[in-house]
Amino acid sequence: MIHDEWVAVDNYLASLYPDDTALETGLKRAAEAGLPDIQISPAQGQFLHVLARSLNASSILEIGTLGGYSAICMARALPTAGRLVTLESDPAHAAVARDNIAAAGLDDRATVVVGPALDTLPAVASQFPGGFDLIFIDADKEAYPAYWDWSLRVAHPGTMIVADNVIRDGRVADPDDDDPQVVGVRQYLALATSDAGVVTAVVPTVGVKGYDGLSYSLVVRTHGEPGV
Ligand code: SAH
Ligand code: DHB
Ligand code: MG
Repeated sequence: MIHDEWVAVDNYLASLYPDDTALETGLKRAAEAGLPDIQISPAQGQFLHVLARSLNASSILEIGTLGGYSAICMARALPTAGRLVTLESDPAHAAVARDNIAAAGLDDRATVVVGPALDTLPAVASQFPGGFDLIFIDADKEAYPAYWDWSLRVAHPGTMIVADNVIRDGRVADPDDDDPQVVGVRQYLALATSDAGVVTAVVPTVGVKGYDGLSYSLVVRTHGEPGV
């Protein structure tokens, strides 16, 4: 369910900012190509941008590109020598994202890797031996637990791991809901809240995307490191 007030407030907040041609034409291009309208909201995109800048992130990993909306929001926070890699299984989505990233002037920093993320992650990880400063998980929810494990493998102390869609209209809290996507998110949250090397905040949100939420996990120490 999406309440009218939630939409009105999100629209009001978006109206406070100057027009963002790259993001708006990117959404138009995605709609024309028939991509689903499931990217993060403008307010959430702005939040990820602020977060990336707060972290001074120079390396960002995204799992789930779609048309590149969230990738653009985050890549804009990078210094010119920074890198964002975003993983997308659907070649049609990846093609739209590449166009949008290039039109936003970010193709020097942001790369779309096509293929199921669990297949492409080993090579991507080996290209970033120092790991990533920020990781945004937003692909198939069934695999969120596997993405959590991969995130820890490419993390360093100080890495922020963000996951989208962790509330799903409250379904995550219904123990009778055994939809594999809901189960995947529930397992993800169990992992993220019980790892002794990570501090996690789960933040519910309402807005144009309905009632949902994002999870924020700050890696304090990685496995194998002496305890603090
Ligand atoms: N982060 C985007 C939205 C991503 S929607 C934004 O906010 O702008 C989820 C995307 O994950 C879809 O494009 C879908 O094709 C992709 N996806 C689904 N399963 C995947 C997998 N196994 N590996 C990589 N991408 C996957
Ligand atoms: C949906 C929304 C998302 O943010 C996502 O990553 C995947 C699916 C949805 O509304 O179906
Ligand atoms: Mg999402």
